[in-house]
Amino acid sequence: MLSATTTNTKREYTRFLRNWSATLLLMIVSINSVTVEAGGMGMGNVEGERIRQGFVITPVPLNLHSKNRALVGLGSYLTNGVGGCNDCHTSPTYAPGGNPFNGEAEKINTDGYLAGGGVFGPFVESNITPDASGLPAGLTRKEFISLMRTGKDPHEANKTLQVMPWPIYGNMTYRDLSAIYEYLRSIPALPNNY
Ligand code: HEC
Repeated sequence: MLSATTTNTKREYTRFLRNWSATLLLMIVSINSVTVEAGGMGMGNVEGERIRQGFVITPVPLNLHSKNRALVGLGSYLTNGVGGCNDCHTSPTYAPGGNPFNGEAEKINTDGYLAGGGVFGPFVESNITPDASGLPAGLTRKEFISLMRTGKDPHEANKTLQVMPWPIYGNMTYRDLSAIYEYLRSIPALPNNY
């Protein structure tokens, strides 16, 4: 038979355990949230990662002279890793024997990279490489960003671009669109492929 003291001790012990488990649980939760936050802090580096990856995936050599290097890298990431600009603006997209859709190792058609020429019904994809004065598609940064947001080509103001998904691209931040522009400034200038 248990004495009153033993019962009390047991009760205290149970309470002690219960409190401790609560504390332990709290500790685990806070450790977890610290870990989540640490992951969150890593987020600050996402742009750095994208910039580095942009330089890895660019299929053409880049002219970084008087360019913002970080913007070029980010722009390459957005152009070659997200935007799919190459899919339409390079024709054909892949070099002979380098079409991944045919199970071949990818080799982008660098000779025609973003020089246009693909045909979508009545629409021909534009050459968006730098022109003689270094402006991608002959557009200033302001004109480029406005075109990506409105679908209006300042050279043909009464026309709305039909094929390109500019309503989607236009959702990007100013900095991202500016980065794409900076990247396009740095790629080799090519004659129109049409
Ligand atoms: C689905 C195909 C497609 C994709 C993807 C695409 N474009 Fe286009 N783009 C076109 C076509 C077609 C035109 C021109 C004709 C039209 O739409 O009337 C054009 C026009 C343009 C122009 C205007 C050129 C000029 O001569 O003024 C720019 C700049 C441009 N695209 C940039 C981009 C960029 C940057 C990306 C990727 C972020 C991209 N495009 C992705 C099809 C595409």
